Amino acid sequence: MEVVITDHPELVVADAVAEAITGGATTLGLATGSSPLPTYRELIRRHREEGLSFANVTAVMLDEYVGLPHDHPESYTRFIHDNFTGLIDIGDVYLPDTMSDDPKKAARDYDELIARVGPVDVQILGIGSNGHIGFNEPSSSLTSRTRLKTLAERTRLDNARFFDSLDEVPRHAITQGLGTITEARRLVLAATGEGKAAAIAAAVEGPLSAACPASILQWHAHATVVVDRAAAALLRDVDYYLNAYEHKLAR
Ligand code: GLP
Repeated sequence: MEVVITDHPELVVADAVAEAITGGATTLGLATGSSPLPTYRELIRRHREEGLSFANVTAVMLDEYVGLPHDHPESYTRFIHDNFTGLIDIGDVYLPDTMSDDPKKAARDYDELIARVGPVDVQILGIGSNGHIGFNEPSSSLTSRTRLKTLAERTRLDNARFFDSLDEVPRHAITQGLGTITEARRLVLAATGEGKAAAIAAAVEGPLSAACPASILQWHAHATVVVDRAAAALLRDVDYYLNAYEHKLAR
């Protein structure tokens, strides 16, 4: 796993995406939340000003709230359209059918769809303050497939800032499983701010454990964690990460 500590995580993540696309990547895995927003803004800028084209790219979303209409301002369907995919020339954008009468089947169908359109070339990830990725809450099986999950109260509290009240935050989501996510060719996780420092330390330097689902990145052959100084504050091996990135050889 590569750990990059930088004042501009969005540039490192955008470079990874742009390099993959210009190298022929056709499937991009997208995350929501505030962490990837600066990356999306940077990619939109490169699309508009530098001609970066997503015309041959299909997007696969990580997760979506169950029971939230797709036109709800906080649905991930609307979020990704309004903040990224609706502003570039990307092809199809896939999400799980979270308004289905049978969300468990919808989750299985989505897992099969990812297998058909995948493998995902680059999966962008954020991290929850409890170490979740997607909506894989602590205790999620490290080999889990796309499924219906009950959100942790901490996650609902964290995400309540986007809703009018805590009561409005959905209790369930369909999320790609950890096993599904790790089938992507490359994982790039971005985190900023001191609120993510404990989760980043557990994910990067803690044990590989269902207690911190993001620690699954340690298991992946090509995973990059990109953090600012604040999110890196509780890491032990900072000198090595800085040194290794400074002297990085082309992969
Ligand atoms: C949500 C999403 C995750 C995201 C996390 C962190 O729970 N399901 O994919 O990584 O929030 O969000 P933020 O980047 O806003 O802190």
